[in-house]
Amino acid sequence: MMTKILTIIGARPQFVKAAAISRAFIEQGDIEEIIVHTGQHFDANMSDIFFEEMNIPAPNYNLNINSLGHGAMTGRMLEEIEKIILKENPDFVMVFGDTNSTLAGALAAKKLHIKVIHVEAGLRSFNMRMPEEVNRILTDRISDILLCPTQQAVDNLKKEGYDNIECKVINCGDVMQDAAMYYAQNSSEQSSIITKCNLFAKPFCLATIHRQENTDDESRLAEIIDALNSIAEKEAVIVPLHPRTKKIIDSKNIDIKFTAIDPVGYFDMIELLKGCSMVLTDSGGLQKEAFFFKKHCITFRDETEWVELIDNGFNTVTGANKEKIESAYNTYKTKKSDFSIDLYGGGTAANRIAKEIVLNV
Ligand code: UD1
Repeated sequence: MMTKILTIIGARPQFVKAAAISRAFIEQGDIEEIIVHTGQHFDANMSDIFFEEMNIPAPNYNLNINSLGHGAMTGRMLEEIEKIILKENPDFVMVFGDTNSTLAGALAAKKLHIKVIHVEAGLRSFNMRMPEEVNRILTDRISDILLCPTQQAVDNLKKEGYDNIECKVINCGDVMQDAAMYYAQNSSEQSSIITKCNLFAKPFCLATIHRQENTDDESRLAEIIDALNSIAEKEAVIVPLHPRTKKIIDSKNIDIKFTAIDPVGYFDMIELLKGCSMVLTDSGGLQKEAFFFKKHCITFRDETEWVELIDNGFNTVTGANKEKIESAYNTYKTKKSDFSIDLYGGGTAANRIAKEIVLNV
C-alpha cells in the first residue's frame, strides 16, 4: 500500500532538505509525495533555481504567500494548507526546520488529526526572541515523528520531557549532508561562479547575513558590516546577499567594501564552499555546510543550535562584535583542523527517514 505524504516547503534551506528526501522517497517506491510550496521565498534565485538544479519534483500546489508580517504570513498559510490537507487526506504531513511555513504546516495538520513528521526536530538556540526558536519549539510539541539531525537534538528533547510525550524521537542524521555529498559530485561542471567572480587560485572568504536579529538591528548590522569591510582589505570577501539584507543596505546607503553578489543557487554555493578559506555567517545551514566542505566558520550570532561544531573547534560564535569576528578570523587564518569526525550521519539521513516513515504508517 502506498503511503501518502504531504510535504510543506517554502524557504530556501527547505528546498535543499526536500531534495534529498524526495529522492529517497522515489527510490523507496512505496511513498507518494504531494509537495506544497507556500511561496515564502519567491524570487527565481531564492526558489526556482533550487527546483531546477536539484531536480526537486515541481510543487503540486503553490500558495504564493510572502512578504507579510509573521502573523499574516503564518495565518494565511495555515488557512490554505488546511484546505489542501482536507482535499488530499494524506497519511502524514512533513515539515522542515523552523520557518513560518513549518509552523503553519504542522498546526494545520495537527488540528485535523493528521500525523506530523518534523525533519530537523529538537534543535534549540534557547533564544526565545528568535522567530525560528518559537516556530521549532511549537512544531516539535505537536509532531508525532521527530526526526533529529544530531544526538544533541535528541538530548534537548529528553530534557524537555519528550520521553513522557506520545511521539517518536529518532536520530536520523542530517539530510543537508546527504544533499551536500550528492550535489558536490558534479557541482564543478554545473557552476561557473569561481570564474565569474574572478576567484580562481585566489584566497577568499564566503559570507552571508540574513537573520532578522541582525538585519533589523542597526547596530548589529553595522558591526558585522564593519568587520567584513575590514577583512575585505586583507582578502576578497564574497557575500551572496539575501533580498532582505540588500534592501536594508541599499535604503540606508551603507558603505560596503566586500563583494556583494545576488543570491546563488546550490551548485554555485557548493563551489564557493569548496574554494573559500573560511565561512562567516548567521545562517544555520551554512554553518554545517562549512564543516561538510572542511572549512572553519565564524557565526555572527549569540548562540548556535549546532553546538557540536563549537565543541570540536570548527566554529566560533562571535555575536555581532567586530573585534571578536576579526580575532576569530585571525585564528582561523592559520588553524588546521581534522574535519573527518562524523557528526551528522555521513549522508545516510534521507534513506533512514524514508524507512522510518514506511515503518510507522
Ligand atoms: C526565512 C526564515 C529563516 C530562514 C530563512 C532562510 C522565518 C521566520 N524565517 O527568513 O528562519 O533561515 O528563511 O533564508 O520563516 N524576500 C524576497 N525574495 C525572496 C524571499 C524573501 O524579496 O525570494 C524578502 C521578503 O519579501 C521579506 C524578506 O525578504 O521582505 C524576508 O523574507 P522572509 O521569508 O520573511 O524571511 P527570511 O529572512 O527569508
